[in-house]
Amino acid sequence: MDAETLLTTTRSVRRKLDLDRPVEPEVITDCLRIAMQAPAAGAVLEGVRWVVIRDPALKAAVAAHVREPGLASQARYGDRVSPATLASGRHLLDVLHRVPVLVLSCLIGRPEGDPVYLNAFYGSVYPAIWSFQLALRARGLGTTITGYHLAGHEADVSEMVQAFVHGLADQPAGGALLAGRSRRPRCRRPAAGPCRRCRPRRCPPAGGRS
Ligand SMILES: Cc1cc2nc3c(=O)[nH]c(=O)nc-3n(C[C@H](O)[C@H](O)[C@H](O)COP(=O)(O)O)c2cc1C
Repeated sequence: MDAETLLTTTRSVRRKLDLDRPVEPEVITDCLRIAMQAPAAGAVLEGVRWVVIRDPALKAAVAAHVREPGLASQARYGDRVSPATLASGRHLLDVLHRVPVLVLSCLIGRPEGDPVYLNAFYGSVYPAIWSFQLALRARGLGTTITGYHLAGHEADVSEMVQAFVHGLADQPAGGALLAGRSRRPRCRRPAAGPCRRCRPRRCPPAGGRS
């Protein structure tokens, strides 16, 4: 697939998610490696943790904390999207616990104040998320980004995943939730595994459990 086709045909996938087809862990790792090459302000991406959730019980627990605020959000703002999109969004909430992989992008910290830094902090994660989605799409996988849990359920989700993720203890874990299935790299901390170009001491691998 050429770049223009990829960029102009990648859409949110909700109804057409294949809930039964497994997603190989290596595909997620590879796409996260690509995601970490996205543009970011300063070292913000070094504070991003990707939490890959495959465990059915954890998926169900997280999905419950997405579904409730999701339904509330759809009830409140549903008239701002087309009926088809609304129905599609509702379907995703219905099946979220069955989606093969949930990926949380978590930002460590919660800066306040300086709008320039806030822009850099929160704005840096979305290019990476989009790169991740594009990389998955190029491999035949579909995704949708959601942020419903941020409405009152962020702390619950954070608490659930903190136990599994190195570096997240006592830190808020916000960010977006993705439901997935369907030239020389710059030197950055990789999403998983040791960095091949930096000393491990400088470039610790991201923790995580899938
Ligand atoms: C920051 C952001 C948040 C989003 N949140 C949601 C969401 O909570 N639920 C959802 O179904 N889609 C969500 N989306 C996906 C958009 O609804 C989707 O991109 C938009 O409908 C355009 O449709 P398309 O992706 O099919 O082209 C979000 C997209 C972005 C960029």
